Amino acid sequence: MSPTVPPPLSSRGGDEDRLIDEGVTPFCSNPALGARPAPTPHNALSSECGGRIDRTDLLTCRARADHRFTVITGDPGLSLENEPMPQDTRVLDPYGDTIDWNSIWIARKLRHLAIPGYREGDGFFQQKSNVLRFFSRRTEPNPRVQQQLARLQPPRGVRVLDIGAGPGNLTVPLAERGCHVVAVEPAAPMREMLSENAARAGVEVEVVPSAWEDVDPATLGGSFDLVIASFSLTMVDIRAALEKMHGACDGEVHLYWFFTPPPWGRVLRALWPEVHGAEYHYEPMAGCLVNVLLQMGVFPTVEPAFMGGVHNYGTLDEVVDEFAHRMNRRDRTHDGVIRDGLLRLLRREEDGSLVLDHPAWHAHVWWDTREQLIRPEFNPVY
Ligand SMILES: C[S@@+](CC[C@H](N)C(=O)[O-])C[C@H]1O[C@@H](n2cnc3c(N)ncnc32)[C@H](O)[C@@H]1O
Repeated sequence: MSPTVPPPLSSRGGDEDRLIDEGVTPFCSNPALGARPAPTPHNALSSECGGRIDRTDLLTCRARADHRFTVITGDPGLSLENEPMPQDTRVLDPYGDTIDWNSIWIARKLRHLAIPGYREGDGFFQQKSNVLRFFSRRTEPNPRVQQQLARLQPPRGVRVLDIGAGPGNLTVPLAERGCHVVAVEPAAPMREMLSENAARAGVEVEVVPSAWEDVDPATLGGSFDLVIASFSLTMVDIRAALEKMHGACDGEVHLYWFFTPPPWGRVLRALWPEVHGAEYHYEPMAGCLVNVLLQMGVFPTVEPAFMGGVHNYGTLDEVVDEFAHRMNRRDRTHDGVIRDGLLRLLRREEDGSLVLDHPAWHAHVWWDTREQLIRPEFNPVY
């Protein structure tokens, strides 16, 4: 029997396709990276990685029993700690028994953050122009958010923590439905848009102006019935972030993240070498996230969502402009390179618009903290 594949959403309009694209920032928007307080042993690496690791040749990232991390690079001088190079674990451990998935997440995240040209300027959503460009005020319903809300359906009066609330795509409708929402959002332009959207809807939202890594849950006024992190998993030490979410919740934790690279990620990967002279590395995705949870002893429900196989990007000029910003291009001379690259990667429809053939999947990963405890000793066999 052939597998059932959802139909391509090829007939979708440009706006709807932008909604797919807005899943997550392609750039690190965490202002706290590089400006953290003194690291505790648990978050030593995530704190240190901010400004210092700028090499893409990370080979291995190992976790020690006390949860401190050691990044081993190809150059012994670049090791964060003076650890000897590990032996080749692929030879010693062909079954992956010693894999620490949080270390895999961290290594991928660091490699992503270290992409030359990636962190130039400020964080992506720290720039108001990007927030306006990718989250412009719209009156039409956002299909992805509608889907999330239809699935969540929290009763009135519940306490919701929305981590990485952005412009309030989920926060505002949840508050309109009678939830008491606390929104964690580190980017000032996002908070500005969130406040405007909440005011327009006539709802009150409590906003915490921090990255989740820097939030002390004890200051949030008690536990939450629902904790949501929707396309905001930029945290380097994801395990520490997940443990904190679990601890803040007396109900369900819902995460939304990529299962496969998003369409725009595919374009960035193809064009980055031509613009920045270096390879573009994807962020860690939901498969890794789920394995981190399993190694915490949390067994989540994982629901895949097909995000379409064909993505409409509007006219050539619009797409060049969009990717010039997504790529942090240094000067306008790169626009020609981006234009040529887009014409290679995308195909033109009869109306002149460009489309990208690229099947993409999101993941909805959730669990009930009342039914599951963090029990690392339940380490599953892969
Ligand atoms: C792509 S937007 C998603 C907005 C909204 N959650 C949604 O689903 O539409 C990601 C948001 O997460 C925020 N963010 C990124 N890293 C974060 C972190 N470490 N802690 C809290 N928020 C973060 C960004 O500033 C941005 O506003």
